Amino acid sequence: MDSMINLVVPLFLVFFSSLIFGDITGVESSKHHHHHHHHHHYSYSSTKLFVFGDSYVDTGNIKKQEAVVPWAVPYGNTFPGTPSGRFSDGRVSTDYLAKVLKIKSPIPYQFKDHAGHDQLQYGMNFAIGGTGVFETTSSNFNMTYQINLFEQLIGDVYSPSDLSSSLALVSVAGNDYLTYVAKHGINIGIIQSMTQVIHQTKVNMRRIHALGVKKVAIPLLQPLGCLPFFAKDQKCNPNINTLVFVHNSALREVVANLNKETKQSAFMVIDYYNAFLTAFNSKGENPGSKRFETPYKACCGGLCGSVYKNGQKNYTLCDNPTSAFFWDGLHPTQEGWKSVYSALNLTAFST
Ligand SMILES: *[C@@H]1O[C@H](CO)[C@@H](O)[C@H](O)[C@H]1NC(C)=O
Ligand SMILES: *[C@@H]1O[C@H](CO)[C@@H](O)[C@H](O)[C@H]1NC(C)=O
Ligand SMILES: *[C@@H]1O[C@H](CO)[C@@H](O)[C@H](O)[C@H]1NC(C)=O
Repeated sequence: MDSMINLVVPLFLVFFSSLIFGDITGVESSKHHHHHHHHHHYSYSSTKLFVFGDSYVDTGNIKKQEAVVPWAVPYGNTFPGTPSGRFSDGRVSTDYLAKVLKIKSPIPYQFKDHAGHDQLQYGMNFAIGGTGVFETTSSNFNMTYQINLFEQLIGDVYSPSDLSSSLALVSVAGNDYLTYVAKHGINIGIIQSMTQVIHQTKVNMRRIHALGVKKVAIPLLQPLGCLPFFAKDQKCNPNINTLVFVHNSALREVVANLNKETKQSAFMVIDYYNAFLTAFNSKGENPGSKRFETPYKACCGGLCGSVYKNGQKNYTLCDNPTSAFFWDGLHPTQEGWKSVYSALNLTAFST
């Protein structure tokens, strides 16, 4: 397996551009639904953040009755003190980006019908844990589905002019690769899968912009090989990180092409890859950064949040979540996200 990847990846890099950067018209839905809820229409002058994707940005869209995680203790222990639907002990990336934009974290889609003007004015979060560009094993639909939900709200909750100061955060693709690796291991087929993921990501980003969102930001994939799920003996899995590197190179090129296409600098990447590495290796020398003793070890180990019928925990919890970068096998702690955001150059967002 390892040697196959070592052989294949350099070849792939060479052929990658011609494989995936041809013009494509993937799946773009223009379905129009009847609106079930009519919100009184206001004008929203605040900057709005619309969030699409997976558990790295989900702030509460999983239905409580449908899942244990993330609605189980000890999720949310640090903030807000009780499970909030975030896959962390506290805040996640969406909350930190909202802070950069000087707005409140946008309301999760599932709570929109009970939200007043003040809660809708910062945009909306459509992200839901488990989502991929395509359907994944946890089958919470796909990203196309989330964009359909957004489209249905335009002209209803948000008028086109409400979008005059708006940004989309698009966190997706990690689950597509996790699903592939869980099913097939790492083999050559992942390259075709990656090509499709990149194609559809481009379609999705173009569509969000065409719906009126002014700026569309997509994080580069974090080094997936360093997730506690893959890291062994405090060492990242280099094969997985190589695949991430290839994905990120393609993504950068997609963003550059979309910017050429629209002749505005509407699309941008957020470099999670390097920000995660900076956070892992930090000695705590910079303000907001912190030294993590064992960065690839989850604070909440085992099946985080799961208990036996007699109440006994089937997981272990570290003494201090602020000393850990990762919360569970896949997700950073609040402190981890804080470090990542302090390592990012976000000057483009704060102006
Ligand atoms: C997303 O899911 C919907 C509904 O399951 C499906 O019709 C559509 O083809 C999917 N789109 C992509 C890009 O996978
Ligand atoms: C307890 O956790 C382990 C993994 O740490 C898992 O294999 C096992 O199925 C879990 N048991 C229950 C009852 O959830
Ligand atoms: C941060 O990014 C901006 C452009 O978005 C650039 O002009 C600036 O030089 C960057 N700063 C650092 C410290 O890299």
